Amino acid sequence: MDINTFSKLSYGVYIVASGNKERQNAFIATTVMQVTSKPAKIVVACNKNNFTTSLIRESKVFSVSVLKQDYKPTTMGTFGFRSGKDFNKFEHCKEFIFENMQTPIVIEDCLAWFDCQLTDEMDVGTHILFVGKVLDAQIIAENEIPLTYSYYHEMKKGVTPKNAPSYIMK
Ligand SMILES: Cc1cc2nc3c(=O)[nH]c(=O)nc-3n(C[C@H](O)[C@H](O)[C@H](O)COP(=O)(O)O)c2cc1C
Repeated sequence: MDINTFSKLSYGVYIVASGNKERQNAFIATTVMQVTSKPAKIVVACNKNNFTTSLIRESKVFSVSVLKQDYKPTTMGTFGFRSGKDFNKFEHCKEFIFENMQTPIVIEDCLAWFDCQLTDEMDVGTHILFVGKVLDAQIIAENEIPLTYSYYHEMKKGVTPKNAPSYIMK
């Protein structure tokens, strides 16, 4: 098998958030997609070691925010390379909202968001696939360009940590 074949799969880059009024957390995810249209549902692959995974299980809600191409490196560093287990990421996030008074949604460096109610989950080994019904969605910056995983790798020279499903072990 040519391991580099996996780099030909296309993805976007998102911030997946969950929690409650007392404790919020979020992580960077590439493995996010819409899986049904009526009702609209989105699936997210969350590593079992991610702190956010336990928050989604507890609260049964999560949000997906679409990162814009000219994001700040600190946003990627905070949400993609640190764990909320020992660090409160939302203390370093200037812009976020609470949809329906319960789902934390990251606005900073993002151009759109989806507020989801957990409907199903599937254990696929290292990761859990969380399926969420979209309760609400909004575009917040119409003219911004969504960040793609290939742009992140090729133009920004970004790397991917081991917890990501798209991590390529060489
Ligand atoms: C570009 C990029 C893509 C990532 N994609 C995923 C993903 O799809 N699923 C996942 O579980 N982790 C993914 N990660 C890793 C998590 O963002 C990272 O492990 C994060 O620190 C987990 O945070 P938490 O423990 O606070 O939840 C990705 C990281 C980066 C930088």
